Parts: sequence; C-alpha cells; structure tokens
Amino acid sequence: MTNAPQTVFLADYTPPAYLVDQVALTFRLAPTATRVISKVNFRRNPESNGGDLLLDGEGLKTISCTLDGAKATVTHEAGKMRISADQLPADSFLFEAEVEISPATNTALEGLYMSNSMYCTQCEAEGFRKITWYPDRPDVMAPFTVRIESEEKILLSNGNPVASGDGWAEWSDPWPKPAYLFALVAGNLVNHPDQLETMSGKKVELNIWVRPGDEGKCAFGMGALKQSMTWDEEVYGREYDLDIFNIVAVDDFNMGAMENKGLNIFNSSAVLASPETSTDANFERIEAIIAHEYFHNWTGNRITCRDWFQLCLKEGLTVFRDQQFSADMRSAPVRRIDDVSTLRGRQFREDNGPLAHPVRPESFVEINNFYTATIYEKGAEIIGMLKRLVGDDAYAKALNLYFERHDGEAATIEDWLQVFEDSTGRDLSQFKLWYSQAGTPRLTVSESYSDGTYTLNLRQDTPATPGQADKQPLVIPVAVGLLSPEGKELVPTTILEMTETEQSFDFEGLSARPVPSLLRGFSAPVVLIRETSNSERAFLLAHDTDPFNKWEAGRMLAKDVLSRMATEGAEPAPQYLDAMSDMCADEALDPAFRAHCLRLPGQDDLAQTLYDAGVTPDPMAIHSARESLSDALAAKLEPLLASAYDSMISEGEFSPDAVSAGRRAMRQGALSLLSRIDGGERARALFATADNMTEQLGALGALLQISQGSKELASFYQQWRDDRLVMDKWFMMQVSFAAPEATAATAARLVEHADFDWKNPNRVRSVLGALSMNAAGFHYEDGASYQLLADCLIRLDDLNPQITARLSGAFETWRRYDGNRQGQMRDALQRILAKPDLSRDATEMVTRLLGD
Ligand code: TRP
Ligand code: ZN
Repeated sequence: MTNAPQTVFLADYTPPAYLVDQVALTFRLAPTATRVISKVNFRRNPESNGGDLLLDGEGLKTISCTLDGAKATVTHEAGKMRISADQLPADSFLFEAEVEISPATNTALEGLYMSNSMYCTQCEAEGFRKITWYPDRPDVMAPFTVRIESEEKILLSNGNPVASGDGWAEWSDPWPKPAYLFALVAGNLVNHPDQLETMSGKKVELNIWVRPGDEGKCAFGMGALKQSMTWDEEVYGREYDLDIFNIVAVDDFNMGAMENKGLNIFNSSAVLASPETSTDANFERIEAIIAHEYFHNWTGNRITCRDWFQLCLKEGLTVFRDQQFSADMRSAPVRRIDDVSTLRGRQFREDNGPLAHPVRPESFVEINNFYTATIYEKGAEIIGMLKRLVGDDAYAKALNLYFERHDGEAATIEDWLQVFEDSTGRDLSQFKLWYSQAGTPRLTVSESYSDGTYTLNLRQDTPATPGQADKQPLVIPVAVGLLSPEGKELVPTTILEMTETEQSFDFEGLSARPVPSLLRGFSAPVVLIRETSNSERAFLLAHDTDPFNKWEAGRMLAKDVLSRMATEGAEPAPQYLDAMSDMCADEALDPAFRAHCLRLPGQDDLAQTLYDAGVTPDPMAIHSARESLSDALAAKLEPLLASAYDSMISEGEFSPDAVSAGRRAMRQGALSLLSRIDGGERARALFATADNMTEQLGALGALLQISQGSKELASFYQQWRDDRLVMDKWFMMQVSFAAPEATAATAARLVEHADFDWKNPNRVRSVLGALSMNAAGFHYEDGASYQLLADCLIRLDDLNPQITARLSGAFETWRRYDGNRQGQMRDALQRILAKPDLSRDATEMVTRLLGD
C-alpha cells in the first residue's frame, strides 16, 4: 500500500542503528529485467543501541538475500525489510542481495529508468530504494564501487573509472556519500570533452555526454562548468575532488538537474544550448543550473543533510551560491530583480496559501512535495540576510569553519548556525525563527519629521499559516537610504536591525524632510506596506541610487495604476506614462534594466495584492487592465520604442553574453509594444529573417499576443518538428498567448496532438504548466481550464506522481477568488482526490490544497 499516508516527523529523528563501511553494486542491465547484486558491509553505530536491521525497498523482486553468506530470515512491512537483531552475526557483517527491477516500464522517472533507450537513474530523495535494499537515508554515508554489465556503448557511474572491458565497466567513488547521490548511466552517448586545471594544479577531465546529434549544443554548458569550478575556488576556496566530472543530458527528467557525485544528470533543457534553438533566457538558466549542481559538490555532497527536514541546508545555500555566481557573471542588479521576481511570484504565493510551510518543515508525507520555492528560494534569502547581518568577512570566516568542521558529515541547521555563532560571537536564537516560522512578514512603515530628525516607525506582522496561528517577531535587516528632495543621496545605505514587533529609528541632523528608499536590494523577504504617493514613486524611479529600489518604484507605480484600472475602471495614469517615457529615454541606464522596467507586473502579483487589500480579484478585469495599459504605453512611447528597436539591433555573430542579451531584451520589449500599433509588421519581418531563437520566439510571441501569427506558428512547426526542446516552446507559446476564452480549448487540442507525450515531463509542463500560468485563461469563468487540468492530472498520476503533484499547485490560490471560481476549483480538486489509487504524492498535495 503506497497510498496509506504515513507522516514523518522531524521530532522523531533517531540515528541509524547500523552504518555502512562499503557498498559494492553490480548491475546486469536489461530493459525489463535488470539484476542488481549488492554487497553492503554494515557496522553497528556506536551512537545507537543497535537493534533490528531495517532496509528500504520499493517494487523490488528479491531473488536472494544473505547475511555473511548464510540465508537471512526477513520480514516485510510498509516498504521496509526487517532482519531481527538476533540474526545479526557480530558488530559488523556483510549483507548481500540480488534483486530484479524493470527500468523500461518505470515512467515515474525515479530509481533506474529508461529515456530514449538510454538507462539512467534519479535517486534523490528516496529513489535508491527502487534500485535495491538499502538504508535509504542521507545520514548513512559510504564509499561505493559499481560494476555495470551491458552492451551499451557508454557506461558511467560516480567517482573515478577503475577498469573496463567488452560489455562492462567499473567505477569507484572514494568519497562517502548517501544513497541519494548514487547515479548510473548507460547508453549510446557521445561526449563534448574538455579539461581544467584546479587551484592545486590537478588536471580534471570534463565531459558533457549527449545523444548523437546534440554534440553541437554542449560548448556553452562546458564554458559555464569551467567558470563555476574556477569561481568556487576563487570565492569559496573550494576545489574539485575527483579525476573526472561527467554531465549527462537526459530528455525525460522530473526536474532541472541532479548533483550526483561526479556524475551530474541534467534535464536536456537545462544543458543543451545553441543560438538557433535556445533563447537568452535559456542560456542564462543553463549557466545557473550548471553552477548550482556543481556547487552542490561541496554544499550537499561533501557536507550533506542529516535528514530531509534539513533540505534547505543544501538547497538554500546552493541557490544562494548560484545567485552570487550569476550576479558576478552578469549584471548584479538585473539578477537581483529577477531573483526577487521569482521569489515573489512563487514563494510569496506559496506562503500566502494552503501549502505554506517553514523553510525547515516539521513533518511531511512525501518528501518530493517539499522541493519547493520556500525551501529553495526563501532558504537562499535567509542566507543573504545572515550575510547582510554579519558582514562579508564574517560570512567568509563562518563558511570556512563550516567546511572544516563538517566535511564528510550529514549536518543540520543547528550545525550551520553554530558556525556563525562560534565565528562571530553573535546569538542567533531569534534569527533561527526564519527556519521554523512560515508565512511572509508584513513590514508596515510610517514616518515623521521634525527639527531635523527623521523617524521611521516599523512594525512587523506575520499572518497565520496552516498549523501555525501565532507568530513571533523575527530579526529583519532593513536596508535604508535617504534622498534629499533634490534627489541627492543624504544617508547612504544603512542596515536597521529590527528585532521587535514595533521599533523606531531616528536619523538626525537633516536640513529637510528626506525621501526614504526602504528595503534596498530587497534586504529581507517581506512585504513592505507604506502609504505613499505616486509622485514619490516617480521620484524614486528617477533618482534612487539603489538599482533594485529604482526598479521597485516603477513596479509599485505600475501596480497602483493597474489596481485602479482593474477595480475602478480608471484611465491609464499620465504620471506613470511620463515616468516610463523618461526611464525609457535614459541612455545612461543598462538596456536590460530598462527592459525590466517596461514589463508590467504580472497577473498573479496583482491578484495577490488586491486580495491582501480585501478585494476579490477579477482575473478578466486584471487582464483587461494590463492590455489597456500596454496599449497606452505603446501609444505614448512609440517614437522612443521605434528608435530603441532600430538601434538595439545586434551586429555580427550571436553572443549569449549579458550585454548582448540585455540589448535584445530591450528590443524585444519595444517590439512587443510596437506590435500593438503596427499590426505586427515589424514582428512578421523579424520572424522571417531571425537567425536565433531569442528573436524568432520573441517575434512569434509579439504576433500571438495580438491574435496573429498562425502562419508563423505553422512554419515554426515545419522548421523544428524534429527538435524536442524547440517543440516544447511551440506547445507552450500557444497556451501562454491564447486569449482567455480560448485557453482551455487550445490546451485540450494540444494534449491530443500527435507530438504530445504524456511520459515526457518537459512536454507535459509546456502545455499544463503554461495553462496554469496563463491566469486569465486558467481562471476563465466557465471553469473549463480547471476541469481540463483535473482530467489531465487524473490521467498523468498513473504515469508520473511527482509531476502530477507539482502541477496540482496550479490550484493553490483558489481561496482568493469568488464563490463560483472557488466552487469549481474545489470540485476539480475533489475529483482528483476521488481517483482510485491516487499516488501518495498527489494525495498529500490535494489534501493540503483543500485544507480543512
Ligand atoms: N537536488 C536537485 C537540485 O537541487 C533537485 C532534485 C531533487 C531533483 N529531487 C529531484 C532532480 C528529483 C530531479 C528529480 O538540483
Ligand atoms: Zn539543488
């Protein structure tokens, strides 16, 4: 019974009774009958009282099972094998097993499975138990040797290659690791090879392995890998620790990529790149994911997590590190704007709904459901706050201590905070609440000025979240700068450390009432609430020296204008249009930054803001407001946009670097608005001549947005029908740009298309993910999108529970909406829940979504 919901609690953690000294695995690969032979040397854990040996296993056909060579008597219970203590020979013993598994029929893409006739594995979080009997928990770490027997051309596993011959290969990984980092790949692969000399002068062999035909799409990823390796040496002093580093691209993959020791496995969308097939956004994402997985080698692999409740220990820190890397490689302000937009779009949304949970949860049913924006993105923000509070030097010292003290261990959040306490002498007990308290704090600010003293009054409140009614005050670093009425920086960025519910801060000796720039750089993951005027926002958009807050001022201005348009039928405010015109004309500003300022706040962002203000959001009204404001912007800015479109043209060969990409982004922003005026003339011309995917897809989007482009869609299909990653874009664009009333029908037609594939997560996401992101279409009042999504998830659940559960998050905002929509979404969720044999993954998610 995989369905019986068993809850796991952090408070129940106990150390393993037995540790593993060595694992030797042999794989005899065959599509539906792979044999896995394991030899595991166990040793009684001195920190435990011993007891029965408990091993995890799921869906295994056990052929044999012995203890020190003698047949073992075992019992089975809820996914575990129990060997009673009285049979266990001595303090150490050898457990051997042979099992049979069927990778070809494994559509859940967890454990050993096949993708395009290639064998591959995904073991995080609890997939190793689908490969063989083992203590599948991260605090059991061991060196692994692996022998693969197969006729496939390339046979790979973790660590260093030891020996190989006709039809076999052996690998050895000397670094003790938990089972979730195990990996194996076998297939007809070709490589893009390179090498790198590390800081101590060691030569490391680097490979990106792909299907024949994809060799030409590896160079960018390889460059990003080498930059990541060097960056981690320079910034964190961390060197790579094996002779070889392999990356493999796989088409069927549940997430972005996986940091298996020495053998990272990537969703092909997160590694393959070429100018013809990848957009600038793709290049940027690939660079970040390659860095992320590489950085896990130290933050995740050398130091891993004691248990899955500590997931943010590796994920929050590794996201923080990849964000630092991207900021160094590209424009730091633009990266910060993007990271905060992701945080607000995904994590704030999660924190405001039924799925809200702490960065370190206290319980879970299915750990796969906790690879969330809260653990990743808010987890990274917590580290950013810690660094802001202690300063850069103290942060570097604490990190060195962390690596020194915990190398080779499975650590906890307590261990992490302890290194900061020990190296700085700071008491972090209040700061630790960020890990246990869910919900996004609201920071309300008011101010007064008299006799040259300016006072900021701050108040923090964290709304109740499921299971957590009462909240305590947090430590919030509030970065503040003050500007003079003429726009000069009076007080440069200062960190106010807030620790109480209410607190005031004085700034003395001022000659006039200043204009505050609050929460600069988004110094804490909170919602800022302050009565202010649009003229002050326009002032900050023009004068703030903090680039993040400059952008933020424009965003707040746009949100105010759009809210009034959506709820009161107001006209597009001239103040906003004038401010945008000045911003757009400011040649001193980075084009990428200007492109970001031109983008309107998203549909979901507005819906949440209205809901917070006590207004039931109307998705159609928000949609119309965004459309009218875009039309008004286009009309007002036409000459500026036209000249930007003409002048930002790239000359020469395509380069994915940040500056070139920024110019293309500005040009695309201009094109998208101009198409509302020129009837798509420029976009049609660009589509016809574009030699790179950024421009080709941008032109297509500009046309689809004005309900044109059917001819271009057809020619796009003809051109790219054999490229799976580009075809994902073809599917996605149609749903993303469908008119609200046509969205459900478009998605329904696409899931029936001959090129749709229920077993390929990328393809499924390109339609169903896009369906939930097209807010006006998803929430169209006839409820057709809700019903379609429910039907599709019911169908998908038998194939891939992880993706089903993830996509069900589309319903997480259901309580925001009116009675009709709420009722329809609740019905859709209840229909999913009623499906016979619904997976544990989906059961947990839908149950939490429905709440009590
Ligand atoms: N640890 C991986 C990362 O952060 C992500 C991951 C977790 C994953 N579970 C997975 C990837 C399942 C693929 C499938 O990069
Ligand atoms: Zn990660």
